[in-house]
Amino acid sequence: KGTLFSPFLTSLLGSRDVTSGLFQASQGSSMADTGVVESLLGLVEKADGGVDSLEAAAGLGVDHQLLVGAVKSLQALGDLISAELRSSKHWELSGEGTEIAEQGSHEARVFGSIPPQGLTQSDLMKLSFGKIGFSKAMSSKWIRVDKAHEGGPRVFRTVRIKFTWTVITAFSENRSSTRVLPAFRTVKSYWITKGSSFSTTITKQETELTPEMIASGSWKEKKFKPYNFQAMGVAPDCGHMHPLMKVRTQFRQIFLEMGFTEMPTNNFIESSFWNFDSLFQPQQHPARDQHDTFFLSDPALAHDFPQDYLERVKKVHSEGGYGSQGYKYAWKVEEAQKNILRTHTTAVSARMLYKLAQQKFTPVKYFSIDRVFRNETLDATHLAEFHQIEGVVADRGLTLGDLMGILHAFFTKLGITKLRFKPAYNPYTEPSMEVFSYHEGLKKWVEVGNSGVFRPEMLLPMGLPEDVSVIAWGLSLERPTMIKYGINNIRELVGHKVNLQMVYDSPVCRLES
Ligand code: PHE
Repeated sequence: KGTLFSPFLTSLLGSRDVTSGLFQASQGSSMADTGVVESLLGLVEKADGGVDSLEAAAGLGVDHQLLVGAVKSLQALGDLISAELRSSKHWELSGEGTEIAEQGSHEARVFGSIPPQGLTQSDLMKLSFGKIGFSKAMSSKWIRVDKAHEGGPRVFRTVRIKFTWTVITAFSENRSSTRVLPAFRTVKSYWITKGSSFSTTITKQETELTPEMIASGSWKEKKFKPYNFQAMGVAPDCGHMHPLMKVRTQFRQIFLEMGFTEMPTNNFIESSFWNFDSLFQPQQHPARDQHDTFFLSDPALAHDFPQDYLERVKKVHSEGGYGSQGYKYAWKVEEAQKNILRTHTTAVSARMLYKLAQQKFTPVKYFSIDRVFRNETLDATHLAEFHQIEGVVADRGLTLGDLMGILHAFFTKLGITKLRFKPAYNPYTEPSMEVFSYHEGLKKWVEVGNSGVFRPEMLLPMGLPEDVSVIAWGLSLERPTMIKYGINNIRELVGHKVNLQMVYDSPVCRLES
């Protein structure tokens, strides 16, 4: 679905380049540590068996993380090395545990801090190890407190001990204590061995196959970096509305301000019956040809039609009626059944007017803005699909003057005030008028739309009351969008050549009134 989704798709495809950019970035950063990479390759070459990354880091005097980085960038280069992740568990002392190992237990340090003449309990408590050490030394009866001492409670040694200590090397895994001095830690490292294409020199891998490489044949000698299909693309910051959708929003706003109701347009596939026959467009009309219309091969035919209405349509085409002489040809249901991509949104208007005719009549104002398809020769301003904007008003006794008036009101809201009407022909409207507006920039009159009063041959078979007239007009969404955003080629607006930056940067649409 070109217009709506192609910018999004293109942005997804765009992530391909971003990803290879990421490859280069990571390769670039590893190049900064070429020293570590080369030293590691040297170690691996000399080692018989393999090298442990922790030991290698210690041996080279670099941080283990830096060495792991070197391993990763070597792995990305193919089978230069093979690295197996290993984890080992070992005991480690906590901060407090390290302090005890270095300076002795808290109680031993309390004991050592007390001089022969004793120490006030308050002074002892000021020491970092005082609190715990005091209670442990007390319960071991190494010290005593003279509570009645003048100048406050005073602590004295009770025994003579000479302390020696050794670092405890085995611990029970008793986690119930809140003071966990030793901890069991997992350390990860790599066991690095030579890969199948081991070498101590690194050849740069290509990240992109260029047209030059293909032309010269040099790609045969090059080494290519494998694609990382797991790499994530860069997520777009946010969604962006395509200019066509921005302008559609404005048109929708105008219709809503004028009291119009939006018609349901969610069927790109339509039967020829609703697209042409119901609109009194004869079956041999050139627009119904393969050259103008896309036909569906599967399902080729539609089957579900209101039978009595279909009979009335057949009759008005072949024999006439309602004061008309008809086209006088043999109308065939097989032709009406043919499924096509709708060529105009007037097919939607026909369905809605038929529906309206099945109820007690009330005046309505309907609009639609959606996609239609035509088998056009493609050029700078034409694609095989585009959007139509359509307005329909049904009421008793509407005249051509009402149509002109409403067109003036509508186009004034777009900022277009100078209008001219030129007689035209549509199979379903009589009279029909092309709408022209004076373009200040081009200094000439340009066509901005098509309009008309629907024919009785279309409305009366539907069952609408005889005094009800329906006026309608249509225009393309693409033309005002291209003018508004200064785009000269339709391919810059729709399709795979659309510059996403243009979509991001285009401001919201304001149609000056
Ligand atoms: N269906 C016409 C077109 O495709 C536009 C139109 C709509 C004309 C309504 C008259 C009335 O160009």
